[in-house]
Amino acid sequence: MIKAIKGMNDLLPQEVERWRWVEERARQVLGLYGFSEIRTPIVEHTDLFERGLGQDTDVVEKQMYTFPDKSGSSLTLRPEATASILRAVIEHGLLSSDPIQKLYSIGPMFRYERPQKGRYRQFHQINAERIGEESPFSDAECICMAYDMCKAMGLDELSIEVNSLGCKECRPAFRAALKEFLYKSRAALCDDCKRRLETNPLRVLDCKNPSCREVVRDAPNVEEYLCDACREHYSGVLRDLDIMGVPYSKNNLLVRGLDYYTRTTFEIKAGGLGSQDAVAGGGRYDGLLKLLGGPDAPGTGFAFGLERVMMLVDAGIQKQQGCFVAAQGNPRVKEEAIRILAELRRAGIGAQAVFDKSLKAQMRRAARSGYRFCLILGEEEVNRKEVTVKDMDMSSQIRIPRDGALSRLRKAMEEGELYKGNGKA
Ligand code: HAM
Repeated sequence: MIKAIKGMNDLLPQEVERWRWVEERARQVLGLYGFSEIRTPIVEHTDLFERGLGQDTDVVEKQMYTFPDKSGSSLTLRPEATASILRAVIEHGLLSSDPIQKLYSIGPMFRYERPQKGRYRQFHQINAERIGEESPFSDAECICMAYDMCKAMGLDELSIEVNSLGCKECRPAFRAALKEFLYKSRAALCDDCKRRLETNPLRVLDCKNPSCREVVRDAPNVEEYLCDACREHYSGVLRDLDIMGVPYSKNNLLVRGLDYYTRTTFEIKAGGLGSQDAVAGGGRYDGLLKLLGGPDAPGTGFAFGLERVMMLVDAGIQKQQGCFVAAQGNPRVKEEAIRILAELRRAGIGAQAVFDKSLKAQMRRAARSGYRFCLILGEEEVNRKEVTVKDMDMSSQIRIPRDGALSRLRKAMEEGELYKGNGKA
């Protein structure tokens, strides 16, 4: 038997229903904040990620699915969406029609990581990018929107961590001070961090290895090295978060794994996820657009990891809205049932039926359909121009006139009860 690739998962129909619910909730919030959807290809030229994410990042060094195509060009399955979205913004000159772009995309990303709970080789992100704004307000609103999305998806036990990494003016002094500090404890660092010390010392700050964590406890604090402009920006972000009522804590060790971040970084962690507990992460990337060949416009954004969100979302999210139709009797009964099915769908109400089985078997299918209501038709109903409506949740049923049955059903779906107002509960 040929199996799926390690770290890449099938999503079976029931799972997909839950995913769609989550995506829908996220889209609603994105809409409230004025974001529009963009869809970019899953494969890009390798250069885009090497340049955008940084040669010394784990993603570029070890995790990219890179391959030559038949013409010999080096292509890569996208490991994240920010670089691709920015490429599209530059390629299509979007900023010349509107200098502020608020874009989101939803889709699969690929990283060759060691698979474990919450970490996969194909995973999915909801990605939001806000390009063209420099104000601390735009960072704060991004964080606030991510928080609102968590709430809309029903996540709780959240903690939001925020940091500022400074800019190209002030970061070199911090980097030098950090490097000097880390050199003194070099022996205690893990092998990866010994290497990072040379290439990317900031990454040592958020290494998960216990011995590295011990070392960085006394490391220089990035906040003390921020230039006046970065300090003002950071305090502006925190002030706006306070005004928006978003709870957060400062974490001066929060560096994040991609090199493009300047100033603000943030992460949202959720309880119940184990060691891979970041459901979303992001920050500001002011030099990235220019680095990729575009105008010198700032940007800020974040991405949710959908697999991690799904681990936290309640299983039985919602019953599907719709109605099963069961019928038994002479051919006229089936004809009437087929007519009703067509009417239901034309009225925008989901409907299913299986007529080649006994009524008992049809009722079993009705129970499995996930629909709350079932319309039952027999010869008596057809003769009397009536239908029986069964509420599967309440295990109760009622016979109503065929005329007006659909609007009665629709009302019951909206109000959540069939008997409202007629005292027959
Ligand atoms: P990232 O932190 O690499 O950032 O990924 C964002 C989120 O994607 C993580 O917090 C996590 O929930 C999820 N994630 C990452 N890797 C995996 C994996 N192997 N398996 C499952 N989930 C994973 C970015 O990708 C940036 N592009 C975010 C961003 C957008 N920054 C600015 N704009």
